[in-house]
Amino acid sequence: MRLYVNIDHIATVRQARGTDEPDPVRAAVLCELGGADGITVHLREDRRHIQDRDVELLMKTARGVVNLELAAASDVLALAEGWRPHQATLVPERREEVTTEGGISLAGEAARGWVGEAVKRLKDAGIRTSLFIDPDADAVRASVDLGADAVELHTGEYANTRGEERHEQLRRLRRAAALGRSVGLGVHAGHGLTYENVSPVAAIEEIEELNIGHSIICRAVFTGIERATRDMAEILRRARAV
Ligand code: PXP
Repeated sequence: MRLYVNIDHIATVRQARGTDEPDPVRAAVLCELGGADGITVHLREDRRHIQDRDVELLMKTARGVVNLELAAASDVLALAEGWRPHQATLVPERREEVTTEGGISLAGEAARGWVGEAVKRLKDAGIRTSLFIDPDADAVRASVDLGADAVELHTGEYANTRGEERHEQLRRLRRAAALGRSVGLGVHAGHGLTYENVSPVAAIEEIEELNIGHSIICRAVFTGIERATRDMAEILRRARAV
């Protein structure tokens, strides 16, 4: 199982102040030291968190894989062709959303047309291409037809449900993962996974990569805040000690 850490949330904190810290590219180095196999960034069309500069630097400094998430019909597609990250994941994007809300729609002719075109362009550029989809058989089959190398199964509904409903969502993920593997796709998963809910998903044998962001950044705040406060208190103490 590969762990790719999504560092968008570091950029969100930076953008809230418009300064240069915390730098997601620096955070990526620490994620790699901590054992991340890859770093995931979503360069949104609205540039709400990750900036072009972040991806450019990441491409030069990452030791492991860079997985670039992007919307199929955005200006980022042309940038991705130039940057040539190891992997690109096509995701849906809506301006008013707080975060990605569901898998990419592959239902209509039009949707399949522009997603298929994006897959072709990315693959022609030598980029392994994954589609972020709801964990349903139709979406898995459509992904093969469109020429994707892999699918990322959306785990948001699993994460947002409880009890029997969650068990059903887990069975849904298992079925989609098994189908994905059987038709030759790489199977990834992610969204809403936490320290509390990740284990049953990580146990699904066909899933080979998990993309996890928010929960890791939340944990980092709590494991780091005590030390950070101590460091500042020490500077204040020393300022009067001379
Ligand atoms: N995978 C995809 C396609 C996503 O859009 C996101 C969120 O940006 C994630 C994984 C990570 O989700 P979370 O931050 O909830 O762990």
